Amino acid sequence: QSADAFFRASLPVALTFDDVSLATLYSEILPRDADTATALSDTLRLHIPIISSDMDTVTESRMAIVMALNGGLGLIHYNMPPRDQVREVARVKRHIHGLIQDPITTTPDVLVGDLLARIEQKKYAFSTFPVADADGKLIGLVSGNVLKERYKTKKIAEVMTPRAHLIVENKRAVAKDPIKAADAFFSLHVGINKMLVVDNDDRLRGLVTSSDVERITTESKALRKPARDDDFRLVVGAALSPVRKPDGSLDRDKITEHVGALVAENVDAIAVSTAHGHTAGVGEVVRLVRDAFPGLTIIAGNVTTAAGVTWLAECGASAIKIGQGPGSICTTRMVAGVGIPQLTALYVASRAAKDAGVRIIADGGITKSGDIVKALTLADAVILGGLLAGCREAPGEIMEINGKLYKQYRGMGSIAAMKDGSAARYGHDKNDTTRKLTAEGIEALKEVSGYAADVLGNLLGGVQSGMGYLGAKTLPDLRARARYIRVSHAGQKEAAPHDVIEVSTKKT
Ligand code: XMP
Repeated sequence: QSADAFFRASLPVALTFDDVSLATLYSEILPRDADTATALSDTLRLHIPIISSDMDTVTESRMAIVMALNGGLGLIHYNMPPRDQVREVARVKRHIHGLIQDPITTTPDVLVGDLLARIEQKKYAFSTFPVADADGKLIGLVSGNVLKERYKTKKIAEVMTPRAHLIVENKRAVAKDPIKAADAFFSLHVGINKMLVVDNDDRLRGLVTSSDVERITTESKALRKPARDDDFRLVVGAALSPVRKPDGSLDRDKITEHVGALVAENVDAIAVSTAHGHTAGVGEVVRLVRDAFPGLTIIAGNVTTAAGVTWLAECGASAIKIGQGPGSICTTRMVAGVGIPQLTALYVASRAAKDAGVRIIADGGITKSGDIVKALTLADAVILGGLLAGCREAPGEIMEINGKLYKQYRGMGSIAAMKDGSAARYGHDKNDTTRKLTAEGIEALKEVSGYAADVLGNLLGGVQSGMGYLGAKTLPDLRARARYIRVSHAGQKEAAPHDVIEVSTKKT
């Protein structure tokens, strides 16, 4: 059945991902040809519809960089002082793909033999080294063709190309678009394949190799393109906490100052993240940001009703987060007795969003790529917490327990996270010691799942596979073509591997 026929008929029972399955349709679309591009506003476009959650165990700059490099978006959490969050955003915006910001250098008095031994020991995959003095000043470049056994007793100073013979670029001159600058540099200086970048004091600030530039300039042909802004910088979003004054009123000056600092660093989206978005307070924050920073993409939430979507759209949000209590670490439904199972919430929200001309994002409860496909039949993008929390790029240390590797994952409504700052998200005040904070989330562990690029690659493969089964070339096609069927308990059992002993093929 179509979404309207299916979900209306199933009301008042609310359904979630495993309750339904999608019917296959005649297809001329190969999974690899399915286009996963989406948009969160008229200005913020992504190549993959996946966003990393603004949780303090999921997204800081490292995760946000890898999300954007893979075509998605990271939302930097707000459990840190505003100036630290601004710095995290700046790290993503200034991340220069291809510019090695901290190149490995050598010094002039080292012997060639010692450098050869270091290359062998560290297993460096390159053999050209900038030569710098103790202050970091560039004094030469030593290339692989002179790093030979026969010169092992010579000092680097004797075999290097001295600074006076090197062509370098100034950091300021290349800062806006280093790849374009490097492309021009290598076209001009035939035969040179390293661009050394220095500051005004001639200190080494970076290095670009011609092979990296070639790879990056052809990336538009690759399946997954980085999500960039109009100035070629990676995109990033930041979560905003509705800061209040001691009298309970919104601290409008602090909020404006904070968003102003994020905008000065070219943030691409602000996420007003709360557990209950259909409130006067959240509406006030959204309106404040919309009026003070026209054109800025505002994500707001969370809501699970049509009225909630309409409310946030009217206040000025361009994309609305849907989900109350579906998350893997959430206890809102148990603690507060509220929330609507996620797929029905998405259906209801999607109809209101269409009328209001806004986008919706499915936030929480996604445990496998099939859930993402189902969510995208109704929503423009998904937010992932648990599926990314085990990645190496998520904040936090890896711990070993009984020979297995884990990372911490906690709800932003857990006591520990609220004490670290997120209490406002759940309508509490972390400084209010007279009242007990009531947790709406738990603290947990996730098994380390490897690098985010690999996790995203697998999830995206599943999404494209789903699009292929439904004959959907684009995500709007997926939304238009989806046909749903209710799955029985026996059907759910049948959907997972059964009656076999699974053998792991994971490489160690
Ligand atoms: P997943 O299922 O991806 O969910 O791990 C992540 C989403 O869960 C929300 N979130 C919470 N919800 N209590 C809640 O009820 C919490 O403590 C909590 N912390 C995060 C949030 O929307 C996130 O993106």
